[in-house]
Amino acid sequence: AGPVTVLGLESSCDDTAAAVLRCDDDGPQILANIVLGQTDLHAGFGGVVPEIAARAHAEKLDMAVERALAEAGLTLDGIDAIAVTAGPGLIGGVMAGVMLAKGLAAATGKPMVGVNHLAGHALTPRLTDGVAFPYLMLLVSGGHCQFLLVEGAERFTRLGGTIDDAPGEAFDKVAKLLGLAQPGGPVVEAEARAGDPTRFKLPRPLLDRAGCDMSFSGLKTAVLRSRDGLVASQGGLYAQDRADICASFQAAMADVLAEKTRRALELTGAPVLAVAGGVAANQTLRAGLEQVANRAKARFLAPPLNLCTDNAAMIAWAGFERLRRGARDDMTLAARPRWPL
Ligand code: KG4
Ligand code: ZN
Repeated sequence: AGPVTVLGLESSCDDTAAAVLRCDDDGPQILANIVLGQTDLHAGFGGVVPEIAARAHAEKLDMAVERALAEAGLTLDGIDAIAVTAGPGLIGGVMAGVMLAKGLAAATGKPMVGVNHLAGHALTPRLTDGVAFPYLMLLVSGGHCQFLLVEGAERFTRLGGTIDDAPGEAFDKVAKLLGLAQPGGPVVEAEARAGDPTRFKLPRPLLDRAGCDMSFSGLKTAVLRSRDGLVASQGGLYAQDRADICASFQAAMADVLAEKTRRALELTGAPVLAVAGGVAANQTLRAGLEQVANRAKARFLAPPLNLCTDNAAMIAWAGFERLRRGARDDMTLAARPRWPL
């Protein structure tokens, strides 16, 4: 088969993204990967506002596609297929992407496939490192936290995940509790560098329970109590207190993720542990996971950060994996707010 060039579209959360991926016998090559963020639009609201996100996606998707094509040095004629996130996610944004994909498919007569956003994350190690099935994927982001055994392009087994908050959400809430900036992950990590991870005895939720499920909302509540205790006893927080709370929180998070990952590796005997999602950027968490992988004699894979976080190159790739197995979607393709793998 000759090279196949796929246009990918992603608009399921707060990033509007378009990418062009060329796949041939030498493997995939990312010709363009455009991500237009919306952090500024949601900044004053303490989280992503669905209505604002949907409108911004509708406004920005065309521009993302134009830029991606320009960067790839192509026009629509040079595209062989269109892949679009069809869920799960904020329905308004997903609909905007699916509508654009249908319009492009109708106008060009090119095939279109809908992609599960989580499959996009889960298949990224194949895009970046050509890793073979099976492998274990830990997806940790602002909205997701789950272990997946990936056995095929459309064969995922969920081994467990958070039963409440996602880790990124917990980082963001802790930052908010301490009056730090959003998104909280990078800020809490920076604070933690100067902190004592043993000063506050925070819980390691669900470690005593078998299996790979996790819980992080109690950890956040424990941080709130530590903060309030200090405010009550000394009238406020010193910089060192903040750093110590961040370090203690991050250590608890690292312990839970490492132990649950150890179990998931043991359970599956997977030869590779791959991580994805914005939280996978955290150096302390990463180091803990890498150590667990080494002990289990599994290869550790962490794709570059811009492919760990939301992007359309992963959607184009997951779409290609479906296309080459003969999958096609038609104009009945629906946007799905919920869509478990
Ligand atoms: O994957 P992502 O970009 O978006 C989705 O959630 O889909 O992940 C964003 C999340 C945010 O909650 C952010 O605080 C967190 O990832 N994050 C981090 C770090 N960098 C980003 N969490 C911990 N440590 C970091 N260095
Ligand atoms: Zn995502």
